Amino acid sequence: MTPTNASNQTITVIRGDGIGPEIMDAALYVLDAMKVGLQYEEADAGMVALEKHGELLPAATMDSIRRNRIALKSPLTTPVGEGFSSINVELRKRFDLYANVRPAKSFPNTKSRFPEDVDLITVRENTEGAYIGEGQMTSEDGQIATLTQKVTRKGSERIVRYAFDLARSTGRKKVTVVHKANILKSTSGLFLKVAREVAAQYPEIECNEMIVDNTCMQLVMRPEQFDIIVTTNLFGDIISDLCAGLVGGLGLAPGANIGADAAIFEAVHGSAPDIAGKGIANPCALLLAVGQMLDHLGKPDDATRLRAAIVATLEAKDSLTPDLGGQCNTMSFAQAIASRV
Ligand code: NAI
Ligand code: MG
Repeated sequence: MTPTNASNQTITVIRGDGIGPEIMDAALYVLDAMKVGLQYEEADAGMVALEKHGELLPAATMDSIRRNRIALKSPLTTPVGEGFSSINVELRKRFDLYANVRPAKSFPNTKSRFPEDVDLITVRENTEGAYIGEGQMTSEDGQIATLTQKVTRKGSERIVRYAFDLARSTGRKKVTVVHKANILKSTSGLFLKVAREVAAQYPEIECNEMIVDNTCMQLVMRPEQFDIIVTTNLFGDIISDLCAGLVGGLGLAPGANIGADAAIFEAVHGSAPDIAGKGIANPCALLLAVGQMLDHLGKPDDATRLRAAIVATLEAKDSLTPDLGGQCNTMSFAQAIASRV
């Protein structure tokens, strides 16, 4: 979607479940300190919405996102056996948020095997393929289970184009197309064919192709060879978690879900029920998603300022949450970041 670049833009804020409200308080504290001129409109989704309004995804929340076109969302707990298979998948489907953009970057003072070598972005197709669970069926006798995997030319073309446009706009040099076309000749085959056609239109950007299983090994052995990865939904889900693991884990992994008419920014992690209410969740993943949101809103200087403050706070090492080996809480971590923006 076109960046809006308006001051006093309103964004929809979904506080979410579990640690959601705690990390959202922290993120908004830092955003307020930055004085970027955003207004917040709160909307409910997930367990909170179920308790208050009797549904997981109220119409008022959908209207708010439709109106504001930008949402900042904390994790949502998906209750087992209620309604949709996942509220997150449902939101992506309803707003056609086709591009799931997940950067993985090495940061100082994290428990990581690659302390400084990783700086890559996984661009994952978000609306089709095996992951959306189309045509799931088990035969009456329970002996056979089936699933429809549908990949379209339109879906493949727009995600690959997104990846190459992202390379262009961010000055990145290389796009790796990850597939399994040797075995999945129809679906992965179509994705690869379309990717080659699109790549030909971006001659200044290096493009290589890699089979998904080899990609996993290469990521662990030599992550520095990757710049942007573009791939189908399920491969992207798995690869982006692998990449989060390379750089120190879930507390540092942000994601953007981007469509033509709306975008939702979130942490990759879930509602962390084991630490909810304790005030010790790491706010960085959601804050890094705020950085992606500021870039998207046409405020790249603010996004850079925020990321620099996060890096400086990680470097200072005196305000870290327990997942990073520190002894501080969510809010004091956020205050330390806010003092540096
Ligand atoms: P999780 O990501 O919530 O937690 C996994 C582990 O990482 C836990 O030990 C947790 O304490 C830790 N962790 C996660 N975020 C952290 C943070 N910011 N700081 C410090 N530690 C952190 O995954 P889990 O337990 O599998 O899922 C819990 C719930 O979250 C489920 O209901 C699931 O459906 C939902 N979920 C929602 C997502 C979303 O809204 N986008 C994404 C993933 C899961
Ligand atoms: Mg996942």
